Amino acid sequence: MAVPRSEKSQPSRLEELRAEIKRHDELYYRQALPEISDQAYDLLRKELDRLEADLDPLGLFSQVDEEKSKKTEPQVGDDRLESFASHRHIQPMLSLDNTYDEKEFFEFDKRLQKIFGTEQLCYVVEPKIDGVAISLTYQRGKLITATTRGNGIEGDVVTQNIQHIEGLPLQLSEPVPETIEIRGEIFMSHQEFERINLEREKNNLQLYANPRNLAAGTVKLLDPKEARQRKLEIVLYGLGACNPQNHFSNLSEFHQALKNWKVPSVEYFRTVPEAKDAWQAILELDQLRHGYGYPTDGAVIKLNSFAQHAEAGTTAKSPRWAIAYKFETERQETTLENIHLQVGRTGAITPVAWLTPVQLAGTQVSRASLHNADEIQRKDIRIGDRVVVEKAGEIIPQVVEVVLSQRSPECVPYSFPKTCPCCETSLERSEGEAAWKCPNLNCSEQVKGRLRYFASRGCMDIDHLGEAVVDQLVDQNLVTRTSDLYALTKEQALSLEGFAEKSAENLIQSIEQSKQRDLWRLICALGIKHVGAAAAKDLARTFHSLTNLSTASFDQLVSIDGIGEIMARSIREFFEDSQTHSLLEEFASHGLSPEIEMDRSTGSPWSGKTFVLSGTLQAMTRDEAAARIESLGGKASSSVSKRTSFLVAGPGAGSKLDKAEKLGVPVLDEPTLLAYLEKPETL
Ligand code: IVH
Repeated sequence: MAVPRSEKSQPSRLEELRAEIKRHDELYYRQALPEISDQAYDLLRKELDRLEADLDPLGLFSQVDEEKSKKTEPQVGDDRLESFASHRHIQPMLSLDNTYDEKEFFEFDKRLQKIFGTEQLCYVVEPKIDGVAISLTYQRGKLITATTRGNGIEGDVVTQNIQHIEGLPLQLSEPVPETIEIRGEIFMSHQEFERINLEREKNNLQLYANPRNLAAGTVKLLDPKEARQRKLEIVLYGLGACNPQNHFSNLSEFHQALKNWKVPSVEYFRTVPEAKDAWQAILELDQLRHGYGYPTDGAVIKLNSFAQHAEAGTTAKSPRWAIAYKFETERQETTLENIHLQVGRTGAITPVAWLTPVQLAGTQVSRASLHNADEIQRKDIRIGDRVVVEKAGEIIPQVVEVVLSQRSPECVPYSFPKTCPCCETSLERSEGEAAWKCPNLNCSEQVKGRLRYFASRGCMDIDHLGEAVVDQLVDQNLVTRTSDLYALTKEQALSLEGFAEKSAENLIQSIEQSKQRDLWRLICALGIKHVGAAAAKDLARTFHSLTNLSTASFDQLVSIDGIGEIMARSIREFFEDSQTHSLLEEFASHGLSPEIEMDRSTGSPWSGKTFVLSGTLQAMTRDEAAARIESLGGKASSSVSKRTSFLVAGPGAGSKLDKAEKLGVPVLDEPTLLAYLEKPETL
């Protein structure tokens, strides 16, 4: 949403929150590597919603939003990757409103009561599955495509990677509607997760953080043969588009059809006559859900009748006829044995709780996050304390609180060290920052962190460079900067513990292959503060080489869609540093200087131009048009803003056309676009 002008000049908590949420969306949806729990993410979102509502209580600015048109695009993350074909959902895949609060659940019911003028609304209650969302499209009962959520409007076609899943119906029996989109979730069992990670560990490959991430990574594998080696599972619960529309009149009928088709559907499905019974079902489900084969993190409560869905409608983000009630995460008590200080790649010191191992939500937990020094002080956490831990969304467990009644008199307040646990340099903390930092860039823990990040799947994606290998390379002084990786010889690799001829060759080959990675990956791998994969792609598309990016001015940077002032400042600081200059020289001397080829280069009139495609095109699909525009160096975007260079409008262009006209954005028809595509130099 747009912000009143006066707010824009000062980078505020609002801007920070938006950047942070964008980064977490990218990590969760596109890279399957979330850093925070779902609950922590929900808190950030709630804070942003509150701030936005405070700034704009009447919703006036969201009506004329220039950057993101809430009316035309659902506000969900985006998992799409360039390497997959896209498929447009017939019915958009929205998100769900969620709550952790009983009162809010009944307020949801009250809102609907008002719409329908009745106190008794028939709901269904079913589990909320914590997997990877998928949409299956069937024509006359035959599976045509399996598509990820994508941006809610169109997703990636992953049929090849999931069609082998046991129980996934390739053909539905009669009676079946002409066209139907069935929605569900893909997941992976803990057992399979552990089997795969064990194998990866043996091969020195990066480990996956949890089954959900591994399932998401598997769905997006480029090689379907590899996907087939991993056991994915599926559970179906939802209806997208259906033709004829009146084939089902409510969710109970649809659920019965899933059963008749013998497809894997949710074990728990209750139809209830009013909200108070729905609440009882929610409580019952919370008791039963741990016995299910898939992970669940809540209950979803939906109006049963499809006619009522249509009448209640949707917001930009979610339907008004459904809500997710998220269950409190499981908590356990255990003893805090020690506080270990971890040094991150940026030098930030993160305290980690070492715990007496305890069973929690299906796994054994022995480490938990303590966030930072202030958090330890605020909660007065002491070594030797009994503490409560919780595992939200199966990511990193957290220490929630101390059980004060059980504190022994010997427990003394924890005093946060003044020096780095690795290199003993005095720690520093800048104003407004939560974390203490080690300022020594050569601190070996920082070096290891930078290398791990550089090689990670979301960055340079270097196989055979797992944690243990990185540790050895740094400890043996073979690598001190990321660029040193490219000078590593097979002989040196052979000197590493556990390495033989073949493994040494593999490592050197993987490093060599990484020189072919796209420019955006290298930009991302540099670890510039605030620059994630999405921003790295925007930067690569605009500047075409690291050399161009390194000399880009602050003004040039902020003029790019998606790059704010905070990020632009951070990019400038990074490239002004003399250490960066020599790093880039080193990369280039080893032949690592990816560029975007000539026909996309600055010489092209298409470079830096943003096109929005709207309405129906005759000669090609919008995806094809977007691909051709991008191949010439242009950018295809989905919403019209004042930075849009051209709107390409086919019949039915609708609100985007109105907006383009209002903002004075030039409008092209399809024949004109085609003429430019034929003769790109004439644009
Ligand atoms: S209904 C129009 N029901 O959770 C959106 N969603 O956080 C209706 N999910 O997008 C979604 N279990 O991917 C629905 N029983 C369930 C679900 C479920 C998991 C996912 C789904 C949704 C997301 C929202």
